[in-house]
Amino acid sequence: CGIVGYTGPKQAYPIILKGLKRLEYRGYDSSGVALLHNNKLNVYKKKGKVAELEESLVGANLNANIGIGHTRWATHGEPNDRNAHPHSSASGRLAMIHNGIIENYAQLKAELVKKGYQFTSDTDTEVLLNFIEDIQKNNGDGTLEEAVRIALKRVTGAYCILLIDEQDPETIIAARKGSPLVIGIGKGEHFLASDASPIIEYTKEVVYVNDYELAIVRPNELILKNLGNEKITPYITKLDMELAAIEKGGYDHFMLKEIYEQPSTIQDCLRGRLNASAGTITMSGIDDHIDQIINANRIMIVACGTSWHAGLVAEYIIEELCRIPVEVEYASEFRYRNPIVNKGDIIIAISQSGETADTLVALEKAKENGAFIFGVVNAVGSSIARIAHAGAYTHAGHEIGVASTKAFTGQLAVLMMAALKIALKKGTINNERFQELLNELADVPEKVAAILKNADAIKAIALKYKDAKDFLFLGRGYNFPIALEGALKLKEISYIHAEGYPAAEMKHGPIALVDDQLPVVFIATKDSYHEKIVSNMQEIKARKGKIIAVITEGDTISPTMSDDVIAIPTADELIAPIISVIPLQLLSYYTGIAKGVDVDKPRNLAKSVTVE
Ligand code: G6P
Repeated sequence: CGIVGYTGPKQAYPIILKGLKRLEYRGYDSSGVALLHNNKLNVYKKKGKVAELEESLVGANLNANIGIGHTRWATHGEPNDRNAHPHSSASGRLAMIHNGIIENYAQLKAELVKKGYQFTSDTDTEVLLNFIEDIQKNNGDGTLEEAVRIALKRVTGAYCILLIDEQDPETIIAARKGSPLVIGIGKGEHFLASDASPIIEYTKEVVYVNDYELAIVRPNELILKNLGNEKITPYITKLDMELAAIEKGGYDHFMLKEIYEQPSTIQDCLRGRLNASAGTITMSGIDDHIDQIINANRIMIVACGTSWHAGLVAEYIIEELCRIPVEVEYASEFRYRNPIVNKGDIIIAISQSGETADTLVALEKAKENGAFIFGVVNAVGSSIARIAHAGAYTHAGHEIGVASTKAFTGQLAVLMMAALKIALKKGTINNERFQELLNELADVPEKVAAILKNADAIKAIALKYKDAKDFLFLGRGYNFPIALEGALKLKEISYIHAEGYPAAEMKHGPIALVDDQLPVVFIATKDSYHEKIVSNMQEIKARKGKIIAVITEGDTISPTMSDDVIAIPTADELIAPIISVIPLQLLSYYTGIAKGVDVDKPRNLAKSVTVE
C-alpha cells in the first residue's frame, strides 16, 4: 500500500492526491483521503484506482491544510469502498491509514467487541484504530501520541500508520514497524509518504523513520520518539533523486520507459565499478569483506519474484566462476522453515524495492543465526539495504512499472561483477577469462540498445500471438531462469497463462500441452547447450507447436525450425541472460498493450509487497 500525509500552510488535498498517484504502483485496489478542517474530519474513499477517487470528489468539500491519504493493496477484506482506507474510529474523532498486517487483530477485536465496539469494515486497521481510541479515552494522558504508543506495544505484525485527531488540528502521528515511512521537511510544512516520490518536488531533505519509532509531525515541528517515549534525534538525509526520474518522459507507460532506459541504467550500474581497459572491478561491498566471502562455505540467495530469477542466474554464474556452492530460495519459504544457516554462510538478498516483507524477515532470521548478509538492492536507503552488512546498489533508478525490468538487468550486472571479483581473488578463473568477461560486460549496454531498435519486429510477433490462451517459455543453462522470467512477465501484464520450464524437463509434463495452438518461446542463443536446445525445438515442432525463438544473430539452424525468430547480438553465455531477457520484456509489453491491460498497474499485483 502507499500512504501520504501533509501538514502545513498549503491545501493538503492536491498534494495528497498527486502523491497517491505517484505511489499507485504500490497498490491500487482502492484509495481514500481524510482531511481535517475546522476541527472536523472529512473522510472520502473509493474502490479502484486513484483517478476514480478524484472523479468522485469533484464538487466535494476538500478544503484542509492537514490530511492523510492511502492507496490500497488488499490483505484483509475484499477491495470495496467499505474496506478502503482511511478508517474512522468509532466516535468519529480519529482517522487512520495503515500499511501492513496486524497479526493479532482477532484477539484485539474480541476485546473490543466485549466492550461494545462495532465494526464497519473487515479490516485489521479498523481494529487497531479503535484499540487506540479506546486507550485514548480510558488510559494514559488522553493524548493520541500516548495512546498510539501504548497500543503499539500490544501489537504484533507489521505496520506503518498515520493518524489525525479532530481535537488536535495540526498534528499527524505516525509510526512504523516493517513498512516504510519517509518524512519530508519543508519550510513550515511536513510531508509523509511510503517513499520519497510524493515528496521530491517539495523538498530534498528527508528523514527515514526506523522500526519502532513514532513521529509527532506538525507544520513547524518534527519529534521522533521510540516506543519507550524517549526522544530520538532525526537523521536528515538529502535525496539525490530528480523529479524527471519519476515521470513518464514522453513514453506511454512507465514499463516501456524503463525497458528503454536499460542501456543507460546498466551503464550506471557498471560506472565507477567496471574498468575494462584497466582490467579491474571495484566494489567496496565486496572488497571490504573479500576474505570472508572467498572463504564462505556456501552462499544462499533469498528473494521473491523477478529478483528470485536473478538469483537463479547468479547460482549458475557463481558456481561456475567461483566454485562456491550456491542455493537459491524463495524468501517466503526460507523464513518459515528451519533452514540450516551457519556462521560461515553468506546470504545474498536481492530486492528491487528493498522493502519486500518476506525477504526482509528472512534476512533478520539469517542475521540472528550469524550469517553475513550482502544486499543487492535498487532502492537506496531501503530497509533491506540498511539491515545488510554489505551490499551493492543496482543504480537502476526509481522503478515504477509493476513488472520489474531495469532493476532485473541491474541485478544481473551487479551479481556478475561480484562473481567475477570473487572468482579472481579466489583464483578460480584466470586473468584472461576475467578480462574477456569484463569486456563482454562493458559491451552489454550497446547490445541492449541494438535489441531495442528492433522493437517493431517484436511488436508484430506479440500481435500475432496475443489471443493464445497459454504460452510456454523454454531455456537451458544460463537462459533457464530467463525462461521463467519471460513467463512471469507475460502473465503479469497480459493475463495469459504462461509457464517457464527448463527445455529438457519439458518432456516430463508440459509437452502434453503442445498442439498447434500453443506458442512456445525458446531462448536458444548460441551457447554450450545450443545443440541440445535445438533438439528440444524439434520435439515441439514434431507436435506442431508454434515456435518463437530468441536466437543469436547469424544462427542459420534454429530459424528453419521456428515460426518466428528474434535475433539478438552475440554474447558470452554467462552474459547472455542480461541480453536475452530484453526481447521477452518487449514481447510481454506489446502483448499486454494489445490486450488492453493497464501494464503499469495490472490487476491484483503491487510493486512492493510489504506484507507477507
Ligand atoms: C512484487 C513485484 C515484482 C517483484 C517482487 C519482489 O511481486 O510485482 O516485480 O519482483 O515483488 O520485489 P523486490 O522489490 O523484493 O525485488
